[in-house]
Amino acid sequence: MPSLTRVLVVALCATFAAGALSAPAVAKSKSKSQGGLSVTKSSFGNLPPSMGGTAIDRYTLRNGRGMSVAIITYGGIIQELTLPDRRGRKANVTLGFADIAGYTSEAYAEANPYFGAIIGRYGNRIGGAQFTLDGVTYPLDANNGPNTLHGGFQGFDKKVWDAESFKTAKTVGVRLTYTSPDGEGGFPGTLPVEMIYTLDNRNRLRMDYEATTDKPTVVNLTNHAYWNLAGEGSGSIEGHLLKLNADRYTPVDETLIPTGELAAVAGTPFDFRSFHTIGERIRGNHEQLVFGRGYDHNWVLNPPRGSGLNLAAKLVDPSSGRVLSILTTEPGIQFYSGNFLSGTLYGTSGRQYRQGDGLALETQHFPDSPNKPQFPSTTLRPGETYSTTTVYAFSTKGGGH
Ligand code: BGC
Repeated sequence: MPSLTRVLVVALCATFAAGALSAPAVAKSKSKSQGGLSVTKSSFGNLPPSMGGTAIDRYTLRNGRGMSVAIITYGGIIQELTLPDRRGRKANVTLGFADIAGYTSEAYAEANPYFGAIIGRYGNRIGGAQFTLDGVTYPLDANNGPNTLHGGFQGFDKKVWDAESFKTAKTVGVRLTYTSPDGEGGFPGTLPVEMIYTLDNRNRLRMDYEATTDKPTVVNLTNHAYWNLAGEGSGSIEGHLLKLNADRYTPVDETLIPTGELAAVAGTPFDFRSFHTIGERIRGNHEQLVFGRGYDHNWVLNPPRGSGLNLAAKLVDPSSGRVLSILTTEPGIQFYSGNFLSGTLYGTSGRQYRQGDGLALETQHFPDSPNKPQFPSTTLRPGETYSTTTVYAFSTKGGGH
């Protein structure tokens, strides 16, 4: 298996940028508008005193096509993402909350769904909450049964990121930075991280991640947005159609740690090589669906056909005609069908989120790679740069798919 394609990524990004997404140049002013593109900064309130009371900012990126994305400095969370349906009617299609209290409530901490957040240092699970690198064993937070999930108790989703907005001729965006101290969550190495969100006029939201380290470590960053393309709070996503560019997936044990096998999806409910609704097979008694209480698995993406970003997933809501295509440099994607949402949270529009009311598609390296030498490596060493890119590209379609 290839190791992290950190250098290659630069070439891939350059190819993709040949379209509307050119490299961001950081600018300083607070609000700017050009060709319908604008970025504005506003207050999103303060963290509660028990969490330090820090002021949280919200950056709203808008384009000339009716799409807007709001990102908050707490967790780098995509707090709102609004776009038109096939008839031009707008809706917010990502799960979240209208105010900071939603993200800091006890109910949220208990449910811990990671709505819209940047996930680090390690997206998804590390088995037994430890890994060994260069002969040293690093104990991590066991925050999910015996395992580490999404970086531990205080992952990147709970950090306040520094932010700077920017605009280029064809894009607007926000550059977020955070330096994770050596030993945070048990992970070795001081890790400066940069995550850039960029919106263009083709309804594409691009995410560029970069990190370096001063000690050998492991890194796996992703974004944890939940989608309901009919609008958040509008009910189940079981009628959404999904296609995944993957012939194989990584089956898990009952604690959702990969067994190490790369299993064929053919003939199983995990075969999304052509469109299927999410609900079609989700109630089957396949052992893997039982372990996940639905879909909660990593798919092994088929390698890209040429240069450029790899098309990983396509999600269609037949009722609104909204389509989300996900392109990435990553080798895997976690499809999580919102199985653990249990009606304890009320979202942005005040409506209850129940099981399956949103789904996440997280581009990533495979779960538990630090303990699975046969998986693509997540090791980052001093002198190397971790660099990955994912794009959420939105469009609309008429009837059918
Ligand atoms: C995991 C799920 C988890 C969810 C929210 C997903 O990435 O795979 O098991 O419940 O995140 O924490």
